[in-house]
Amino acid sequence: MGSTAVIRGLGGALPRRVVTNHHLSILMDTSDEWIKRRTGIKERRHSDETESTSVLATIAARRAMVSAGVDTVGLLIVATSTPDQVCPATAPKVASNLGLHGIAAYDISAVCSGFVYALATASWAIRSGAVTSVLVIGADTFTSLLDPIDRTTGVIFGDGAGAVYISAGTDNEPGAILATTLHSDGRGETLIQVPRTDGAYFEMQGKEVFKQAVSAMSDSVETVLSSVGWAAEDVDSLIAHQANLRILTTVASVTGIHDSKAEIHLDRVGNTSAASIPLAMTNAGTKGHRTPGDKVVLTAFGGGTTWGAVAMTWPIISVVDPH
Ligand code: COA
Repeated sequence: MGSTAVIRGLGGALPRRVVTNHHLSILMDTSDEWIKRRTGIKERRHSDETESTSVLATIAARRAMVSAGVDTVGLLIVATSTPDQVCPATAPKVASNLGLHGIAAYDISAVCSGFVYALATASWAIRSGAVTSVLVIGADTFTSLLDPIDRTTGVIFGDGAGAVYISAGTDNEPGAILATTLHSDGRGETLIQVPRTDGAYFEMQGKEVFKQAVSAMSDSVETVLSSVGWAAEDVDSLIAHQANLRILTTVASVTGIHDSKAEIHLDRVGNTSAASIPLAMTNAGTKGHRTPGDKVVLTAFGGGTTWGAVAMTWPIISVVDPH
């Protein structure tokens, strides 16, 4: 019989190159004022050819293992929609970069919901008793797929990676993953897509994505709150996918969580897709925003469409600042 999955390590990784709003306003028809007012983003990171998804994922995973004080793991999952190659998956390469040859390793593709998908299914694997420890990594490098003159996507996206190490424990330990919910609806396939045609860029229907993201994330937050029996006012921190500041504050207000409880990290990194939640967690950890045992809800919405949420308590953790 399996056990509760408990977070024991956390790490993040960011490319070196900082791209400010001012820099983007030279390349496309936008302005620092518009981007800050409509999205809350001030800067983001762009990876170069030496900073592929697997490179960033490996750095984040290594930091999560150091943070947990471990040197091995039973299963490694990389949530990414920007793998190094169409095939094979990125996860076996990351495992081998860490010296973990022979372990189970696979990718999950759920775009911006990827980390929540990977964390939930990793928690199910531990609960089932199939494994006792998992490295869950969210890593994406979408900026290489952006149309250089598309101001809708160009101002939002950045690159990065984040990782957690989880292992078997009990519900009352800080870091316990207490409830999960995952959903998809393929009818929204064209809202966020990179068509499989030569030279295709990332395409997004921003306004419709905004509406669906608010309603789907709010519903899944309410689902996990009801599973664990927490009221909205019990929640110490809402760590939602970092796409747009207005989405974060609207989800907080729809669910009745005070907007001061919404963790904000997108101002410094933009939307890093599958990396966004674990990177926001590293921000909360390094800034001392959280205390072990705090009640935390994670939620995300992404291409597919896909969405979900996780209710957990904040772990006892030390984390290095990836900035
Ligand atoms: N800079 C300056 N002006 C811009 C702009 C930019 N980067 N992008 C759009 N505009 C303009 C539009 O052309 C429009 O001008 P008009 O009124 O003269 O026609 C105006 O700003 C408003 O455009 P709109 O599309 O209504 O903007 P918005 O407030 O919906 O913001 C997004 C656009 C993309 C920032 C917003 O829709 C969003 O964040 N969507 C969700 C994205 C997301 O979460 N993606 C990831 C999900 S996983």
